Amino acid sequence: MKTPSPIVIGADHAGYALKEFVKAYLTALNYDVNDCGPGGEDSVDYTDFGCMVAEGISSGRFERGVLICGTGQGMAMTANRFCGVRAALCNDLFSAIMSRRHNNANILVMGGRIIGTELAKEIVRAWLETPFEGGRHQRRIEKIDTLSAK
Ligand code: RB5
Repeated sequence: MKTPSPIVIGADHAGYALKEFVKAYLTALNYDVNDCGPGGEDSVDYTDFGCMVAEGISSGRFERGVLICGTGQGMAMTANRFCGVRAALCNDLFSAIMSRRHNNANILVMGGRIIGTELAKEIVRAWLETPFEGGRHQRRIEKIDTLSAK
């Protein structure tokens, strides 16, 4: 079986606990996890950790990332400023599946103050295992990339 490519992960203080949980879950699923932090629940800015993970994707060093803050909103807004990043805020299973099928999302964003651990597990697993459908959706995501130049 092919070794899955490593996952880059980050959070803020409000997402720290869920990040630790997701990290352990990914490890149990045989993924290597590159944890950008933080290392505890002291107050930090989600932007700093969102940038680290988004840079890892934008540079091509990682194919997939996970970001968690309180709601997921700030992380998604931050990550989507980076070229080539398609960060999807998914606090439900359907969004997670569709963000892969139609949007080829490369960063999964969740809200640690919104969802519980069991739902997070389902979301993470579905998001990692659902393939991109390509076709007309490829054309559409290519149009997103042209917007960076505006
Ligand atoms: C932190 O209090 C909170 O604002 C942050 O985790 C996130 O929800 C922002 O979008």
